[in-house]
Amino acid sequence: MSEDFLPIKGYDHVEFYVGNAKQAAHFYDKTFGFTPVAKRGLETGCRDRASYVLQQGKIRLVFTSAYSPDSEISRHCGLHGDGVKAMAVEVSDVEAALTAAKQRGGTVLKPATVEKDDGGSYVTGELKYAGDTVFRFVDRGNYKGCFAPGFEPIDAHGSEGVGLASIDHIVTNVHLGEMDFWAKWYAEVLGFRNLAHFTEKDISTEYSALMSKVMENGTGKVKFPINEPAEGKRKSQIEEYLDYYQGPGVQHVAMTTGNIYDTVTELRNRNIDFLRVPDTYYEYMMDRVGDVGEDWSRLKELGILLDKDDDGYLLQIFTQPMQDRPTLFYEVIERHGSNGFGIGNFKALFVSIEEEQKRRGNL
Ligand code: FE2
Repeated sequence: MSEDFLPIKGYDHVEFYVGNAKQAAHFYDKTFGFTPVAKRGLETGCRDRASYVLQQGKIRLVFTSAYSPDSEISRHCGLHGDGVKAMAVEVSDVEAALTAAKQRGGTVLKPATVEKDDGGSYVTGELKYAGDTVFRFVDRGNYKGCFAPGFEPIDAHGSEGVGLASIDHIVTNVHLGEMDFWAKWYAEVLGFRNLAHFTEKDISTEYSALMSKVMENGTGKVKFPINEPAEGKRKSQIEEYLDYYQGPGVQHVAMTTGNIYDTVTELRNRNIDFLRVPDTYYEYMMDRVGDVGEDWSRLKELGILLDKDDDGYLLQIFTQPMQDRPTLFYEVIERHGSNGFGIGNFKALFVSIEEEQKRRGNL
């Protein structure tokens, strides 16, 4: 069933619509250590929007703002706050990808569009995805420029990186009852397979619950989990997200590192706030997981979580939301054999998230 009719090379970029792209770019440079590499805007002849491209390892983030209030970008920001507009993956043939997706029930929002400049030709196309988010295909096989036609390189050195290497997965939150619809969309429209399925039995606290399905492409290079809230005594963190984002959208982007101790130490030095689990978590986990060669006292000091399965283990940590609205956040992950998502940590994490929800008056 998972015949790969739509070969995906990997993540290409994530584009955010934000209120002030210049400041967002500065923030991701100074805190997360992304290097500004390209820009478009009035100075480059782009009259309706400004975009900044930042890179670290293989991760490319694009921050875009509008110059006018009657722009789709301004409307998006007004409704959702700063958030992810497009999840972009690289393919070798955008036209073929869109055609295959359309035949299988996908909705094409932007047909294959070729843009050219001195760097060559760059092709994009878009499918409708959950809420106002789009799923973008990019073919940069014949493009040698800095990011895309219309962009100019930024001659800035940027801050020192923090060791972030690649995107591991991108998670979407949807309304109750919609998870299966989007899981089916990935399976039927894009030919993905279901890698994991978590029910409210796996992911629940005394107060709230959620369900999750993880979809991945044929090569396993891209993974897109989908969450929906489940019935609970109180408001789940997914419902809180949906309320503040005014609908479905990207909940978190997980980024890999080769040394999570160094990455998290540096991020903490740069004032990035992370979720904290109670100290008892570490005593419990030491008993449960045993010696895997990690330094438990350093994990505890930095607030890094560990989970183990049959294939190996992983280390992970989650930031607080990156905006005033409790919407998008990040995960930093270091994998040692495990292809999981940290299910053993879900309960401790969600109790910790509920503490934060309580502080916001949203539990
Ligand atoms: Fe995650």
